[in-house]
Amino acid sequence: MARIAVVGSINMDLVTRTPRRPRPGETVLGTAFDTVPGGKGANQAIAARRAGAAVDFVGAVGTDVFGAELRKVLEDNEIGTAGLRTVEGSSGTATIVVDEAGENTIIVVGGANAELSGLTDGDRALVAEADILLCQLEIPVETVLGAARCARDRGTLVLLNPSPARSLPPELWEAVDIAVVNEGEAAQLDSELRAVPHVLTTRGGAGASYRGPEGELTHPGMRVEVVDTTGAGDTFTGALAAHWHEGPAAALAWACTAGALATTVVGASASIPTAAAIERALAE
Ligand code: RIB
Repeated sequence: MARIAVVGSINMDLVTRTPRRPRPGETVLGTAFDTVPGGKGANQAIAARRAGAAVDFVGAVGTDVFGAELRKVLEDNEIGTAGLRTVEGSSGTATIVVDEAGENTIIVVGGANAELSGLTDGDRALVAEADILLCQLEIPVETVLGAARCARDRGTLVLLNPSPARSLPPELWEAVDIAVVNEGEAAQLDSELRAVPHVLTTRGGAGASYRGPEGELTHPGMRVEVVDTTGAGDTFTGALAAHWHEGPAAALAWACTAGALATTVVGASASIPTAAAIERALAE
């Protein structure tokens, strides 16, 4: 079983469903509203756990009503929370609008995630004991860099999902072993990604591709009824990390299948499939 340390964000997603997204200045009538735990870090942690890995989470929640619920979703998924702090103030939130086609727009407010500055000795030990460190960019870049330095020094692989994309210090890119990007990020980060040994690019309904020392691989998209794409990329990334030790081709198949299944249910963390569901779909 792979051991994964996630150093990342956790948000409460405020999800509104609507036939179509409003234009600037326009009001439209929505059809449903829900609060669903999310955040790229937490989604990827849950995806890796459900795909079969042992997972520890390093992050922060606030003292507001969402904080306890967010902590509980990690505990309910049997994810280690020794590295989860509670900081004064609001938890991270994401205001998400999902239209009839399952496409979304998202506004993230960092809240407690922005307060995750620096790692404790306990956090460093979790990174050192892991096979893979999994990071995204919804927490301060300095914290991601600190975790990546620790991983590199202790022989832990660094998997970075550079989302939302932003400019990063070259030292961080030098520490990255595996990157997962969508097509937009792949274009935006083209020169940075050239130095990364293993790069996986997700292509929505068209599946995903890999390039690295093993050559180039592609995995086709799975036919599914899409209701909400939120968190599908996170599910891909978590499942990939959980199965990376089986080699890029097997990990890519797990990741694509998990990501596709995640689009068939509304809500980021709520839609993440179990290992049994992924295995069933892989066998079909
Ligand atoms: O990738 C999906 C996630 O992005 C959502 O869960 C939301 O919280 C934002 O972080």
